[in-house]
Amino acid sequence: MIQRAVLALATLALFLTATPLPGQAPRWTIGMSQCNLGEPWRVQMNADIKKAAEGHPEISVIFKDAQNDNLRQVAHLEEFVRAGVNLIIISPKEAAPLTRPVADAYGKGIPVIVLDRKVLGDRYTCFIGADNKKIGRAAGRWIATLLGGKGKVVELKGLMTSIPGQDRHSGFREGIKGTQIEVVFEADMKWLEPNARKEMESALARFPSIDLVYGQNDPAAHGAYLAAKAAGRADAMAFVGIDGLPQEGQMYVRQGILSACFEYPTGGREAIETALSILQGKTVPREITLPSRVYTRDNITKGGEWLPE
Ligand code: FRU
Repeated sequence: MIQRAVLALATLALFLTATPLPGQAPRWTIGMSQCNLGEPWRVQMNADIKKAAEGHPEISVIFKDAQNDNLRQVAHLEEFVRAGVNLIIISPKEAAPLTRPVADAYGKGIPVIVLDRKVLGDRYTCFIGADNKKIGRAAGRWIATLLGGKGKVVELKGLMTSIPGQDRHSGFREGIKGTQIEVVFEADMKWLEPNARKEMESALARFPSIDLVYGQNDPAAHGAYLAAKAAGRADAMAFVGIDGLPQEGQMYVRQGILSACFEYPTGGREAIETALSILQGKTVPREITLPSRVYTRDNITKGGEWLPE
């Protein structure tokens, strides 16, 4: 009986400390540094964070946009530290230049959640993201099956100084290993559709026969499609991408532009859930790996198919 009363009082105390009264200031401030807002996937990540945070009046989130500039993102971290935020979420542009400022903030006792693109080393609280190597490998295997084990492929790579770019590349090469698939052209499109389109124009000019384009994100696959369409060659080849937003990659699959796209979840909701756990003093895993799906013309109406664990 007494135990129950103590438990009820403890629960009430926890509730009162965690939930501000209407009009009261939130208890915790989270600083969120986004590497850019020029790409739909990142706009979606911020929207996911905002939506998840809205359900928790005890936190407020300050969003900053680095506009794809490492130095600006370094400055964000310093500003957050100076402002005394309670926790930092960062989706970094590149690994090397952001490793040190992340480590510095973490070293000052501010928990740091690294989202999507990794930094180097382990001086942060938690990393959240999908397994890019696995996605690249799955894409390689899927493409090998589609092409019956042979063909000429163009690979449009993401920024190769970011870990997702490196992992989607090495995973893909593993996935097509042992087949007769030949990567006839590869280029770094730095995650940007206009670059992808330009690189694809070069590939089309050099190679009269291309069977498929592997774009390391959906904007790349779409940029390549536009280049091939302008050259009157889009019907002769297939296009595969990664990200799988409903309004982007999934829509391209529905429209028949992409043969497949692989989901790359933003992790926005999971970042807020993890932030709350950290702020409440709970222990969280060092790494949270998010699952991914493949969307194809056959399975898109059924919500895609999960990649095996
Ligand atoms: C957006 C983006 C996504 C990609 C992710 C990788 O900036 O390029 O398209 O999946 O970053 O970090």
